[in-house]
Amino acid sequence: MRAVQHRMESALSRFLPPEEAIPARLHQAMRYATLNGGKRVRPLLAFAAGELTDSSAERLEIVASAVELIHAYSLVHDDLPCMDDDVLRRGRPTCHVEYDEPTALLVGDSLQSLAFELLSREALGDPARQLEMVRQLAHASGSCGMAGGQAIDLASVGHALNQPELELMHALKTGALIRAAIMLGALCGKALPEDQLAALDRFAKRAGLLFQVVDDILDCTASTATLGKTAGKDAAADKPTYVALLGVEGARELAEGLHTQALQALGAFGSRAERLISLTDFITHRKF
Ligand code: IPE
Ligand code: IPE
Ligand code: MG
Ligand code: MG
Ligand code: MG
Repeated sequence: MRAVQHRMESALSRFLPPEEAIPARLHQAMRYATLNGGKRVRPLLAFAAGELTDSSAERLEIVASAVELIHAYSLVHDDLPCMDDDVLRRGRPTCHVEYDEPTALLVGDSLQSLAFELLSREALGDPARQLEMVRQLAHASGSCGMAGGQAIDLASVGHALNQPELELMHALKTGALIRAAIMLGALCGKALPEDQLAALDRFAKRAGLLFQVVDDILDCTASTATLGKTAGKDAAADKPTYVALLGVEGARELAEGLHTQALQALGAFGSRAERLISLTDFITHRKF
């Protein structure tokens, strides 16, 4: 997995415009917001899913970068004063603090556009497949995916959500992009039979939800130093989270249940899913 992370740092650095390219300040800020030590969980999931379909690393690094650029953009906007108003991200000042708000806004816009530009690359091979990738990533990012989940998140501050409402919010704001990372990784290689594609999608949905449940738990159990972002923000901002709804122990139990369901969905793949299994373990038991 370290090798994939290493490969991703170099791919992202190559795909982003150089920092001296005009407008230099915007390009510097795009690089600042992307090349700053994220865990690269979505790329790791894309590569692991690619192992199920014998995908080439060259294609995987393109789709994994596209998803990671959308993720980086979502974090820049999530941290803005009009959203979560955070000053710390990945152990450094957030993009709008290091640069300024208009620049952070444009960084998000530009990272999003670059993500879709990457999906148009010839190396991805087959135009019909590329269209399907564009469709899935656009859907996962927009109002029926990440942006929609963020809208529900903001509208829900100070309101108690019930479990189905919370599940929908989490599935959209975080789950959708994780699901897209997995499905786009698999799409880079040989076509999967219908039943296996459906099983992978079941896994992807569980893993995506699981990721945000654990993020909620870490927000109230880990330190700012470990997380590299401000701990305790959710309770301070009165956000609806799994911890607010179920308590820390309840949220942990739910995470364990999702972990089990996610692994069950991988049963059909046998040892080919080994890396997806380790990543699911990591997502569940991570410390940051
Ligand atoms: C944090 O995502 C925001 C969520 C969507 C929960 P990550 O925990 O993947 O953040 P990085 O990329 O490692 O910084
Ligand atoms: C973020 O959720 C989801 C995104 C779409 C970025 P959070 O607001 O909980 O993410 P963190 O905790 O700030 O990383
Ligand atoms: Mg948020
Ligand atoms: Mg936030
Ligand atoms: Mg959080």
